[in-house]
Amino acid sequence: MKNLLSMNDLHPEEINRILQRAEEFEHNATPNLTRTFTVANLFFEPSTRTKMSFEMAERKLGLHVLPFEASTSSTQKGETLYDTVKTLESIGVDAVIIRHEEDGYYHQLSSGIDLGIINGGDGSGQHPTQSLLDLYTIKQEFGKFDSLEVAIVGDIAHSRVAKSNAQALTKLGANVTFLCPKEWQGDIQAESSWDQILPKADVIMLLRVQHERHESAKGFSKNEYHEQYGLTIERYKQLKPAAIIMHPAPVNRDVEIASELVESEKSRIFKQMHNGVFIRMAILESVLKERF
Ligand code: NCD
Repeated sequence: MKNLLSMNDLHPEEINRILQRAEEFEHNATPNLTRTFTVANLFFEPSTRTKMSFEMAERKLGLHVLPFEASTSSTQKGETLYDTVKTLESIGVDAVIIRHEEDGYYHQLSSGIDLGIINGGDGSGQHPTQSLLDLYTIKQEFGKFDSLEVAIVGDIAHSRVAKSNAQALTKLGANVTFLCPKEWQGDIQAESSWDQILPKADVIMLLRVQHERHESAKGFSKNEYHEQYGLTIERYKQLKPAAIIMHPAPVNRDVEIASELVESEKSRIFKQMHNGVFIRMAILESVLKERF
């Protein structure tokens, strides 16, 4: 894998290889890299989990990490993303992780750039590393994807996590259903209420309401959203015994999920974050090995 831009680019065998390598890293495997590579994390949108877990993964692999701050970089003087990335390539950076508000920002880097690019989230487009850590978490739980019932709930149209996961899970044989407000449905078919979802779901994947990507401030009040689309304690009680709850976080407590449920027995929210480090180690190793 020379770059990781979208879940569209990965065949099931490649996905399984990454999950397998992540499991090895979770059991303390030694990185298989021929030299000390240098990477930089270019985050043009806020991030806690993705950025910190990439940094943790990079340190565990023994990589050099060049600090980059979008707010003090020359992009503030109008430099293009292409020129910023070309600059890093010129000074010897081997791979970059980029999060950017523009959907498909990586198309402008598709020629003329010769370093590894890992997409840390593009606008409402894709978030492949989140998807892979979600898949790892599901596999740990159920040991398979085939015929699993996965419900993705919330702001589908604006969520890169929803898109990446829906594609990947379908490719791996899971049955994916959606529940979301009509306004945020986009062009997908969705269920109209929790009633169809609660008795059959193995995995409930909640999404953050993406306020920053909404064109107008109009919409639901927090209470309205929670009542119609949130995972309430009432709904939690109707889930199957072995069902799990996921959320990529940051969580809006008492909006997408009742605050008391964030660390409940069925919640894997912090497990997802824990798993993210091993998945990102596997991805970084794969990209760096393939290139050099
Ligand atoms: C997600 C993101 O940034 O797309 N968070 C994450 O990476 N863990 C989800 C979100 O912000 O809604």
